[in-house]
Amino acid sequence: MDHKHQCVALNDGYFIPVLGFGTSVPDKVPKSEVIKATKLAIEAGFRHIDSAYVYQVEEEVGLAIRSKIADGTVKREDIFYTSKLWSTFHKPDLVQPSLEQSLKKLQLDYVDLFLIHFPLPLQSGMSLLPKDEQGKAISEAVDLCDTWEAMEKCKDAGLTKSIGVSNFNCQHLEMILNKTGLKYKPVCNQVECHPFLNQRKLLDFCKSKDIVLVAYGAVGSTRDRWTDQNTPILLDDPVLGSLAKKHKRTPALIALRYQLQRGVVALVKSFNEKRIKENMQVFEFQLTPEDMKILDDLNRNVRYYPVVDVFYGHPNYPYFDEC
Ligand SMILES: NC(=O)c1ccc[n+]([C@@H]2O[C@H](COP(=O)([O-])OP(=O)(O)OC[C@H]3O[C@@H](n4cnc5c(N)ncnc54)[C@H](OP(=O)(O)O)[C@@H]3O)[C@@H](O)[C@H]2O)c1
Repeated sequence: MDHKHQCVALNDGYFIPVLGFGTSVPDKVPKSEVIKATKLAIEAGFRHIDSAYVYQVEEEVGLAIRSKIADGTVKREDIFYTSKLWSTFHKPDLVQPSLEQSLKKLQLDYVDLFLIHFPLPLQSGMSLLPKDEQGKAISEAVDLCDTWEAMEKCKDAGLTKSIGVSNFNCQHLEMILNKTGLKYKPVCNQVECHPFLNQRKLLDFCKSKDIVLVAYGAVGSTRDRWTDQNTPILLDDPVLGSLAKKHKRTPALIALRYQLQRGVVALVKSFNEKRIKENMQVFEFQLTPEDMKILDDLNRNVRYYPVVDVFYGHPNYPYFDEC
């Protein structure tokens, strides 16, 4: 890993760059856009790339990464690549084959981080989103601890450097941490986090367990069909706007910088060249303790991704509690 790029230590001895590039493709955007955007992101200086099996873009993202390795911009070890286990592959015997499928699409030998995408096992089979007649996702009774053991085996097999979780609440994390015979702790928990949902309790809990919190939706989400449209637009917030003015930056940069200064790794997706470059400016300024307090006070438990329509009613639905 190129240490010019700011990283934080994970509990297994590896390092994660504190700014990551999101690769989920919004509705109506052609998948090919992700190739161009990922190349631009690497050229702009991003070294952490966040993706997932279910985004169905790992072929494209892999192509972009390999082309930037081939042209000498980066080496494989400079890139920190994250993939995620989709919910229909929670059965222990499906975990490693699913990661192998991702690696085949990526045409890489290993990923840096492999996460359980949601603590919500779904019926395994052909469909990525198996639904009943009411349109609700069909859950499957798989113990998260059994899935975690299969994740540990992926690390031992060298297919991933680190393993972690995503969208877990404190109870789900406790379940893994208290598992009999736990071999590796999750290195991180990737969750929605921004000034309107600052996850203070979950962050404190994760810090107390040496688990890094990784923020998605950090600049207010893509606001596509997976998000709640009845939510205020983060980047239109006047307080963010006035801090942006004060620092001669943009609201997006204030929102990203906020996470870095509270010890949170921030992801940001942009497929726009100007904004990709702009987001790298997060390393060029600092917020004062007073600014941080003002931003903390913006918390209002606005969740852009409640995924209620699909997951509400699942026995493991994670978003009832603050932690
Ligand atoms: N683990 C999970 O369950 C989960 C869930 C959601 C997302 N994620 C990950 O997190 C990544 C980021 O999340 P996200 O895409 O929902 O939300 P996000 O990064 O908060 O927001 C992305 C939106 O902000 C815009 N944007 C980016 N930089 C900007 C800037 N400097 N100024 C103004 N607008 C800016 C982008 O538009 P342009 O493209 O037009 O710039 C895009 O519409 C995803 O791509 C994915 O990798 C993970």
